[in-house]
Order: sequence, then C-alpha cells, then structure tokens
Amino acid sequence: METFYVTTPIYYVNAKPHLGHAYTTIMADALNRFHRLMGRQTFFLTGTDEHGDKIVKAAEENGQSPQEYVDNISKLFRDLCPRLGVEHSAFIRTTDPKHIECVQAILQKVYDNGDIYFGEYGGHYCFGCERFYTEKELVGGLCPDHLTKPEYISEKNYFFRMSKYQAWLLEHINRNPEFIRPEGYRREVLSLLESGALEDLCISRPKSRLTWGIELPFDRDFVCYVWFDALINYISALGYPKGEKFKKFWPSANHLVAKDILKPHAVFWPTMLRAAGIEPYQRLNVHGYWLVKDTKMSKSLGNVVEPMALIERYGLAAFRYFLLRDMTLGQDSGFSEEALVNRFNADLANDLGNLFNRTLSMTHKYFKGQVPVPGDEDLADAEIKKLGQEAMRVYQEEFAELRFSRALESLWTLVRGLNKFIDSSAPWALFKAKKRARLGTVIYILLEHLRKVAVHLWPVMPGACGEMLAQLGISFDPLKVDLLKEHDVWGLLEPGTGVAESSNLFPRIEVPEVPASGQTLAGERKAPARPLKAAPAAGLEFEDFQKLDLRVGLVVSARRHPDADKLLLVDVDLGEERPRQVVAGLAGFFEPEDLAGRRVVVVANLKPRKIRKEISQGMILAVHSGQAMDLLTVGGRPAAGSRVS
Ligand code: MSP
Repeated sequence: METFYVTTPIYYVNAKPHLGHAYTTIMADALNRFHRLMGRQTFFLTGTDEHGDKIVKAAEENGQSPQEYVDNISKLFRDLCPRLGVEHSAFIRTTDPKHIECVQAILQKVYDNGDIYFGEYGGHYCFGCERFYTEKELVGGLCPDHLTKPEYISEKNYFFRMSKYQAWLLEHINRNPEFIRPEGYRREVLSLLESGALEDLCISRPKSRLTWGIELPFDRDFVCYVWFDALINYISALGYPKGEKFKKFWPSANHLVAKDILKPHAVFWPTMLRAAGIEPYQRLNVHGYWLVKDTKMSKSLGNVVEPMALIERYGLAAFRYFLLRDMTLGQDSGFSEEALVNRFNADLANDLGNLFNRTLSMTHKYFKGQVPVPGDEDLADAEIKKLGQEAMRVYQEEFAELRFSRALESLWTLVRGLNKFIDSSAPWALFKAKKRARLGTVIYILLEHLRKVAVHLWPVMPGACGEMLAQLGISFDPLKVDLLKEHDVWGLLEPGTGVAESSNLFPRIEVPEVPASGQTLAGERKAPARPLKAAPAAGLEFEDFQKLDLRVGLVVSARRHPDADKLLLVDVDLGEERPRQVVAGLAGFFEPEDLAGRRVVVVANLKPRKIRKEISQGMILAVHSGQAMDLLTVGGRPAAGSRVS
C-alpha cells in the first residue's frame, strides 16, 4: 500500500497557539485526510519544540520552571487539535526521552564520521531567533526579523560540516524539481546555494550560557543547538533507526512549513540527514504568512488572531474552509473577519447550503424523502455529469499539489452548475406536469452529485461533511472511500434511502460590529470611522504631541512593492545622508512616477518596521476619503527635512 507522511513544524512553546499555527496544522490535517481517501496509508505528525533560550526566558517571565512551563504550553497546542478538527497520528515533544535518545544517537554518529568539529566562533547573535547573523544579513545593523540589535558573542563551540554537503544538495535539488515547492522557494534555495560557500553550522551552546537543551553525548559541557535538536523530531517520532514506522513512512515524508523556516528545512535538514546516512525527505512544501494589517502575526507585535474566538463565533467549517480557500500556496494573505464572513456567505451559505437544502426539500415534497429511482438520462444530464467529472478531476489534481484554493474553485463550478441545473430542469414544473420518471432522474442526479461533493469536501470540513452525508442517509467510513474513482463511478447512492427533510448546516452570518479576534478588525477591513468627539477623555499631553517628529520629505523616486498590490516603496529625501525607504499604501491611488518630486509630510521618528519583507523607515501622511487619497503637502518650497511644527 502506498504511504503518505505529513508533518507540521513543531511549534515553539514560548507563546500560545495563534491563527498561523492553526493554519499549518489544519492544512496538514486536510492533506492527511485527502490521502487517506485516495487509498494511502497515512501518518500525520505535529508537536512542540521545547528547548532553547526563548523557552527559558518565557518560563522565567511566567515565574515557572522550564519543565512546568513547557508542560503547560505544549498541552495548549495539543488540546487545540481536536477543537480544530485535527486528527494527528502522533504528537511529539522534544523533551520526550525517546526523542532525546534519538538526537544523541545521531549527534554521535555524525561526530564519529568526522562531520562535527570543535572551533571558535564570533558573530551577531539574536536571542529572538536563537541564531547568529552575518553582517550581510543584518538590516541597518538590526536583526531582519525582530528589528532589534543583536549581541556580538564569541565563544568555542561544536560545528557541523554543512559546507561539505553543499555540492551534493545543489545537485539533489537540481535533479529533483519537486523537492521544494512552490517553485519560487526552490529557486530561492538554489540561488542561496549558488551564490556563495555554505558555512558550517554551529550546533552547540556552552552550558555556562544555556542548560535547557540536549547534552552533546561527546561533551557534557555543551547542549545541542535547538534547530539540530528540533529537525530530528521528524524521524525520532517514527522510531528511527529501528522503528517499522520509519521504514514505512519516511520515504513519503512531506514537510509543511511557512517561509520563515525555509533555510533550516531546505538546507540544514537535508545536509544533516545526508551526514547521518539517511535518505532526504520527499518534499518540502512552503506557504506564506497570514498577515494582519500587512504585517506578520506575532506575539511581540501584539497582533495575533485567536483561532478559538473565530471558531466559537463562526463555526469550525467556516474557519477551515476560509483558511484553505483564501490562501494561495506560497503567497501571503491578509486576514480579516470580513473576508471570512463574505467567503462563508457566498460559497457555503448561498451556493452549497441552498443547493443542499433545496434538494432535500424537493426529495421530501416529491418522493416522500426517499432517494428516487433514476430513469433515462437526457442531454442536460450528460452535460452536468461531464462538468462534475471534470470539476472533481481537477479538484483532486490541485489538492494533491496543495493548491487548495484552486481545487475548491474547481469543485464550485460543479456546485454552481447544479444550482443552474435545478433552474433549467425546473423540477416544480415536472411535478405539475406529472413527469415522474424525469423528475426522479433530476432529483437523483442532484443527490448523487451532492454525495460526491460532500465526500470531496470531507478533508476540508470533516464535521460538516460527515453530517451532510448522514443527512443523505449514508454512514460514512473514510477508509471505505475510493476518491480516485469518484469521478467515474456513478450511482452509489441507493434508491429508497431516506434523506433528511431539510438542512441548515451553513446558516448565513452577518458581518460583526465587534470582531471576535479581539483586535481592531484584522487585515484589510477598515476600522469604522470614529466620531470626532471620541478623543481620549483626558486629552493628549502637549509633550506627547511633541514626541512626533514631522518633517518635510522630498520624494526622490517610487516603485511598486514586489509582492503587495497595495503598497509602494517610496524613497524620500529628509535632508539626511541618504534617502529613506518608506512603505506606503498608495498603490491604488498613485502611479509610482507621479510621486517623484512631490513634497510630503513624513513621521520621521517611527521605529523602522518590516512590511512584507521591505523595511519602512517612516510614514507618509495622507487623507483617505472614499475613493480618493490626497497627500498631505506644504506650500512653498521648504528644504527637505524641514521640521513641521
Ligand atoms: N520551532 C520552530 C520550528 C521547528 S520545526 C523542526 C518554529 N516554531 S514557530 O512556533 O515559530 O512556528 C513557525 C511556524 O508556525 C511557521 O513555519 C508556520 O507554519 C506557522 N506560522 C506562524 N505564524 C504564521 C503566520 N502568520 N502565517 C502562517 N503561518 C504561520 O519556527
């Protein structure tokens, strides 16, 4: 039997789970269910990453010992799974004794082979990322992720000879175009490997600095660097080296990660495996970020979206469907509750919910609630069946490639086609005209297609689709389904089966006044206009106002943001040594070339911020009214950098 092994990253337990974690886990769950329906034996692994500085700090902040702390947060991640409709095969913790044993065995093996050596290292260390940065990687001297100044640390440590495997990795990626997907990330890794010598990887931390980690088996004064420890979870959970599961599932390993951890998965991990004499994984699948107001969700920015608040308000089906329908693999997506509600109402309440409910009611009205016996088919029937076959074929193909959005879009051509089929075959007229055989055929075609739709959607919305199938009188056993055959097989729904009288699985929802996520409305949704009188009760202190450094800026040039439609990258002269780059949401209103030469007002003392990978050093003030955007500007020709007061 073919196998399929899917993993999520193991999540750091320094923060509670948020929408981003829920997304990868739900994606893995949907994929796991899909491959089960396709007849494969599957294994789905998720878990928590529990060693390292970050965790010790978080435990201290909570006044707990590291062990107490990791037990608590790991439990939050584990307990969240069933609430997300997630059924994993195993949940690994890097503090599990079996995992520790496995990490030590691999360290020893690589050490014995001569690929780990002792050396001195100095570098810019970011505690947030738990890694060293080279000068080149820093942005204006700051960590590119946390925008904080790293500390320069020099110490003796153990190194993994990663550089030795550079040529092998390059060749492996070139030979296996499917190794990393989507293609953009494969190219990113290739150019990283081609552009310069891969450095060796520092894989230890002295115990004098950190004790919360796995001891190196060959030197008890050191613990293992978190990434070397964490990546091994993917095989320790399968019982490497001797476990049956390892033999069975490892060859089909599919890792799911977001782009933040591309390098450890695409470079560290395959070279580590190679050094340990283990075959590389089959595929690395990389997705983008869910953004809130154009910024990655993170605890430190205080913009995290709570998955449970959304599920409680909108239901699990809406949540899972939205996440899989609205993100394109590899690209970032703006999260907003409004988008979720609109998507739910359009696709699930209107298209699918109405279709299903109408069909059940007609079955009751015309056939006493029993699946009718179909008669001869006519041209319209053949057409809708053809449409259905094609929709399901494409769905399966796209789903297997993780293009969930396109897969669902394809299935919806069938759902919409069925709604049209009702309108054009007009069952109410057939009933009136007493064309019973024809009426039976029409209703049968609808019910059998709805069964197929529900089976296909089960990986996305297992609970709702299970109910949908129950309402069609089917006791659903995922292990008995052969999804691959579904687009050819016809007539699995038995005539005479009793169906539910009506269905209200996807009741329409209203856009909320107050968001469930506890934030100002996340993502693209605009904050409601605040009445002017709603100034802070105490008024703003003059000193506070004075903290703002407003300056006249002269726009030197502007260009489009490479991957955000609404953003422009504007270079503004503020009378400093060189112009500053400001990321501004002006793209829908101005052509980049219209901005050059204009005098604008800039908030000049904002902390630099990364917006969609581009650094923004300030904010351009503008007035957004309805469809128009006007820049705040000044009369005369004051010099660039003049203070606005
Ligand atoms: N512990 C490491 C991974 C080790 S794997 C051997 C780690 N943990 S993490 O808690 O920071 O999780 C990162 C992962 O969480 C991302 O790769 C992604 O799967 C998910 N996400 C976190 N924030 C996200 C978004 N804003 N959007 C989408 N996914 C995000 O890195």
